[in-house]
Amino acid sequence: MLRDKTIVLGVTGGIAVYKAADLVSKLKKQNANVEVIMTEGAANFVTPLTFQSLSHNLVHMDMFKELKNYDIEHISLAQKADVILIAPATANTIGKIANGIADNLLTTVVMASKAKIIFAPAMNTAMYQNPIVKENMDKLKNLGYEFIQPQTGLLACGDYGEGKMAEPADIVEYVISSFVKKDLIGRRIVITAGPTIEPLDPVRYMTNFSSGKTGYSIAKEAADRGAEVILISGNTPLIPPKGIEVVNVKTTREMLDAVGEYFDTCHVLIKSAAPLDYRPKTVSPIKIKKKPGEQDELTIDYIRNPDIAAYFGKRKKEQIIVGFAAETNNLSEYATEKMKKKNFDFIVANDVTQEGAGFKTETNIVTIIDKDGNSNDYPLMHKKDVAKIILDKVSNILKNRS
Ligand SMILES: Cc1cc2nc3c(=O)[nH]c(=O)nc-3n(C[C@H](O)[C@H](O)[C@H](O)COP(=O)(O)O)c2cc1C
Repeated sequence: MLRDKTIVLGVTGGIAVYKAADLVSKLKKQNANVEVIMTEGAANFVTPLTFQSLSHNLVHMDMFKELKNYDIEHISLAQKADVILIAPATANTIGKIANGIADNLLTTVVMASKAKIIFAPAMNTAMYQNPIVKENMDKLKNLGYEFIQPQTGLLACGDYGEGKMAEPADIVEYVISSFVKKDLIGRRIVITAGPTIEPLDPVRYMTNFSSGKTGYSIAKEAADRGAEVILISGNTPLIPPKGIEVVNVKTTREMLDAVGEYFDTCHVLIKSAAPLDYRPKTVSPIKIKKKPGEQDELTIDYIRNPDIAAYFGKRKKEQIIVGFAAETNNLSEYATEKMKKKNFDFIVANDVTQEGAGFKTETNIVTIIDKDGNSNDYPLMHKKDVAKIILDKVSNILKNRS
């Protein structure tokens, strides 16, 4: 995800320096070029050798050392940085940068760079809540510098509170999302995901094999691209992406009601959930028991659930509706028919019998068919990439309309 990107990582003198080693390793796994600048304070906690070994680059520290070639380090680092990430960021370094002080290599590089600057603060709660530190952070935020919110938890000093550096995995996610184009700012997108369930009795329910992975991937990508996302989620153990609104539902009727709450004010509805078409006609108030000896068969009567897609297809005004079709045969024909019947703008179809496509996998093989008759077949790809192509198409439709 970070191929061809140079992340200049400023490491300052806080106890969370040990986490910065993991951060470098995680950034390298995303194929980033990582150039580490350590402050003298940081070098008191961990030696440059650690970062040198993990980043596969020499560590930068001394601004005034004798030059080996005519390459002024603070200027070249400032220019080659796609992002300057300062993690952990001490109160001291935040304060210096907020006040225009450039007295070491890191603060000088920050001052000389036009790259995006991201801080991951880490400090004792009293320091973090100190009005001077807060004022410095507010000043920087107003100037466009970004901050990754520290966590609340047990701090290295033994105190419990706010100020623990965000986890390296979350910092990497933040950096990745900072490179994603923000073409969905100001758009409200409702996404349904996962299976619904329908109870039979107090201990049993029916459902289907939907994992929710596609819907959750679309929610993450849409949020990264700046959309306001409402994820209406059926029964799945997946962890929703940060910064979005999540509405958990169980049954198909609950999903219908939840979409109804948001539909009139949304720009886009993406229907990637797999709601059950039928539910048991009656739900037994007590556990259904085996009848001793006599009964080999159990017959359950079912009743149709509302068709969520068709309902909102009829109700739609300006909204874009994206539907999905998981088929086992006659893919294009059935998907086109479904798209027209339910008034979708386009449909994402996949043949669940193909290897690598379908519910439980991390990947899918999709065909996208739109109401203008365009049809595109895509190769096997990760569901995250499927999310990208779906949102690219949504974004193009929105752009052409405005
Ligand atoms: C053991 C120890 C732990 C420290 N932890 C932090 C910390 O987590 N956050 C912080 O802002 N300062 C911390 N400090 C204070 C900084 O090291 C000090 O303010 C220093 O001047 C920071 O310099 P730098 O910003 O140039 O790295 C700590 C100091 C010591 C001795």
